[in-house]
Amino acid sequence: MSVNHPFVMTVKPGRYVWCSCGLSQKQPFCDGSHGPTGMRPMFVEITEEKQVAWCGCKISGSKPFCDGSHKKLD
Ligand code: FES
Repeated sequence: MSVNHPFVMTVKPGRYVWCSCGLSQKQPFCDGSHGPTGMRPMFVEITEEKQVAWCGCKISGSKPFCDGSHKKLD
């Protein structure tokens, strides 16, 4: 379910699969729920441990990261 806030977390290096459809129950990551929508998740390679703000509203102009666009939803 998409939300109107980012998911801020510290992530370790690795491959992440960001939910673009908003249906996943494991936000902000994909759980396969996009199936019937025809939408696809976004694969992201993180190369160093850092804090990131994953977009939760799905309308960011900088997907998969938050760019503040969720504020338009308030
Ligand atoms: S949560 Fe901030 S732009 Fe989507």
